[in-house]
Amino acid sequence: MNKIPAAIFGASGMVGQRFASLLQNHPQIELVAAYSSDRSRGKTLGEIWRIPEIPLIEDVSSLKLEKLDVEDAAAKGVKIAFGALPADLARDVELVAASKGIAVFSNAGAYRMESDVPILIPEINFDHLNIVDVQRKNRNSKGFIVTNSNCSVAGLSVALKPLVDRLRFKRVFVSTYQAISGAGYPGVPSLDINANCLPFIKNEEEKMNREARKILGSFNGKSIDPRDIEVWAHCVRVPCRDGHLESVSILLDGQPPSVEELERIFDEFTGVPQELKLPTAPQQAIIVRKERDRPQPILDAMAGYPDRARGMAVSVGRIRIDGNLLRFFCLVHNTLRGGAGDSVLNAECAIHEGKT
Ligand SMILES: NC(=O)c1ccc[n+]([C@@H]2O[C@H](COP(=O)([O-])OP(=O)(O)OC[C@H]3O[C@@H](n4cnc5c(N)ncnc54)[C@H](OP(=O)(O)O)[C@@H]3O)[C@@H](O)[C@H]2O)c1
Repeated sequence: MNKIPAAIFGASGMVGQRFASLLQNHPQIELVAAYSSDRSRGKTLGEIWRIPEIPLIEDVSSLKLEKLDVEDAAAKGVKIAFGALPADLARDVELVAASKGIAVFSNAGAYRMESDVPILIPEINFDHLNIVDVQRKNRNSKGFIVTNSNCSVAGLSVALKPLVDRLRFKRVFVSTYQAISGAGYPGVPSLDINANCLPFIKNEEEKMNREARKILGSFNGKSIDPRDIEVWAHCVRVPCRDGHLESVSILLDGQPPSVEELERIFDEFTGVPQELKLPTAPQQAIIVRKERDRPQPILDAMAGYPDRARGMAVSVGRIRIDGNLLRFFCLVHNTLRGGAGDSVLNAECAIHEGKT
């Protein structure tokens, strides 16, 4: 099979570099162009590389960052663009790219809540991918935009999916402990975050509620009917490098299951990407930690197997039931399952479904 030519928009950033690491040696996709702003233009990916634990192969390391130019990408025959741009810029760039026949897999928030754009987490809502057919018609566009969620919602939604399918509840209370890499590079000033916690992340709490409702909603053939659920969040930035930890509390209606039953429900959770054995799908989407002090960002953010899917599993632990109150922690790698990894998995789903 000929590999599909792809570009990264925003290749020098936190999410953009994760894209580069996931696309090297990808069985179906070939990275042919990497775009950034004027600030990084002319440097190679190897020169700006900040993920020392994942070395780059020569072909990717020597790729030069070019000034963002959608026309140039189209001229290079790019069919897939992975978006890691700030939302205000993504709003223009991604639409133009889609109009030129490019399939855009975006991390930015710009289009997430548009009715004909999916927020795809394929273990949860694989069928939402079909909205791109509606989108193409609505916008008379050959390409399309598929988004992935805000990074904290990604972990929460994966953990909630097996629960909403089996248990009755309307409200979810969550407190997040979010890593510094979630704010991009250079991100939060060091004097603000060093040995400190910041109990405000702009727009994050609102995003958690509205995106979870859409992700867990159902596709009616034209748009998504949101799930009847409320997510009440406290979002806090903490001095960790990668991995968003979240404490979740849910008041259940009806007879609660036992902790052992809940462990089994999480453990057995699986989806279409697992059935299809897509390259970036973790064999197990949720990993249950039974130790009393797990999951932890340092130990568990990179959970997921095989190697290509490291950081794609959501870890769940400290499951407790007190009367009707269910509590647990979940942990998501913000730039992998909550960022570039989910986009690459979404592209693999679109390729499998013949959308691109
Ligand atoms: N970090 C996360 O955990 C995470 C998770 C999910 C979603 N997201 C979303 O993903 C997007 C990227 O986030 P990030 O954390 O990777 O941000 P980042 O580290 O700040 O990277 C931003 C990228 O956009 C490029 N860029 C900025 N202004 C530009 C311009 N005027 N023209 C061309 N390129 C420009 C930057 O290039 P230069 O380096 O040359 O400036 C860089 O490559 C954001 O929309 C964010 O909300 C982030």
